[in-house]
Amino acid sequence: MRTQVAIIGGGPSGLLLSQLLRTKGIASVVLERRSRDYVLSRIRAGILERGMVGLMRQAGLGERMDKECYVHDGTLIAFDGEEIPIDFKGLTGHSVTVYGQTEVTRDLYDAAEADPGRVLTECDEVMPHDLDSDKPYVTFVKDGQTQRIDCDYVAGCDGFHGISRQMIPAEKRREYEKTYPFGWLGILSETPPVHEELIYATSQRGFALCSMRNENLSRYFVQCPMTEKVEDWSDDRFWDELRRRLPAHHAEAMVTGPSIEKGIAPLRSFVCEPMRWGRLFLCGDAAHIVPPTGAKGLNTAASDIHYLFNALVQFYEEADAEGLERYSETALTRVWKAERFSWWMTTQLHRFPDQTDFDLRIQRAEMEFLRDSEAAQKVLAENYVGLPY
Ligand code: APR
Ligand code: PHB
Repeated sequence: MRTQVAIIGGGPSGLLLSQLLRTKGIASVVLERRSRDYVLSRIRAGILERGMVGLMRQAGLGERMDKECYVHDGTLIAFDGEEIPIDFKGLTGHSVTVYGQTEVTRDLYDAAEADPGRVLTECDEVMPHDLDSDKPYVTFVKDGQTQRIDCDYVAGCDGFHGISRQMIPAEKRREYEKTYPFGWLGILSETPPVHEELIYATSQRGFALCSMRNENLSRYFVQCPMTEKVEDWSDDRFWDELRRRLPAHHAEAMVTGPSIEKGIAPLRSFVCEPMRWGRLFLCGDAAHIVPPTGAKGLNTAASDIHYLFNALVQFYEEADAEGLERYSETALTRVWKAERFSWWMTTQLHRFPDQTDFDLRIQRAEMEFLRDSEAAQKVLAENYVGLPY
């Protein structure tokens, strides 16, 4: 088998790249380890920056998103009972779009059905070879048979636990990592969201987030130690804890109900440099992870895809490899800004186990500055709606 771009991983990064390449007549094959249903069962964040919205439209997949999404012109930051409205639209001229990552991925899988063979699921032992030559290829096992795809380039879109990053020799690779001493316990419940916008709340008991998917599907989180076990969190215990971290009038207004999903996820910041080695290009979670505070995971993956897609088009249409040469540097510049913002949101809004009284007063001063300074609100808004590509 031969293709132009072999893509390892059929999460949103890999599928979006393949779909975009298709619009330019560039051939690709996506190799995904899991089944489509498994990939679609993962619950991830649901906030899209305008860049990601633009890419979905460019990929020809704007229709359902534009019909079913919710546009949010702002958010609320709550601290110790006070509330700071952040007016994204007024401060930056932009909004964010609420449309679940699961829906994005479903649209991408549905679109791939038009081209049988473009997305192959349940591929085992996916392995790229000769990435530092001009004839790379990828081998894999599907339905018990070993197959080989020869290609011009390989896109490593196989997430944090994938193999692509490991292909960069250890002495050429530098990894930067920070793990936070807590996780997020999250639930999904078929109840109306407590507020029309998201609420990011910090309190003496820790962080909480009120998010949503639609008018009758809410997504709520509370910060918890990673030693907690999800079995120890009954729905009642979760709702009580969430209410205690919110301003009173939201806590009172909250409609509760049974959870339909419940889980604990760790918080981590991670960046791998470079994002390119020979003919391998890393995209999305394969190269970097952010903590979920600020919802930058999918959006940072999207900016990688934007840069790589445009570089590939420049190469195939104009025989100009400059975009590919510069991919790692260009992508990383934006990645680090998203890392900084996610780290800042996480650091300011969570309680840390070793925090001193001084640290707590600094956090409070930070919130008061945000409340009182339009400039500070603008910095938050500019980052939240997404920095330009
Ligand atoms: N071979 C083939 N596929 C693999 C392999 C492998 N060895 N290892 C992992 N995969 C697949 C996973 O099963 C997964 O479907 O690669 C895919 C990677 O998808 P994601 O982890 O979703 O990563 P990405 O597509 O970069 O999406 C960006 O945005 O909200 C964030 O972290 C969130 O997933 C999200 C990300
Ligand atoms: C979510 O809705 O899942 C969500 C929203 C915003 C975040 C993180 C998660 O910052």
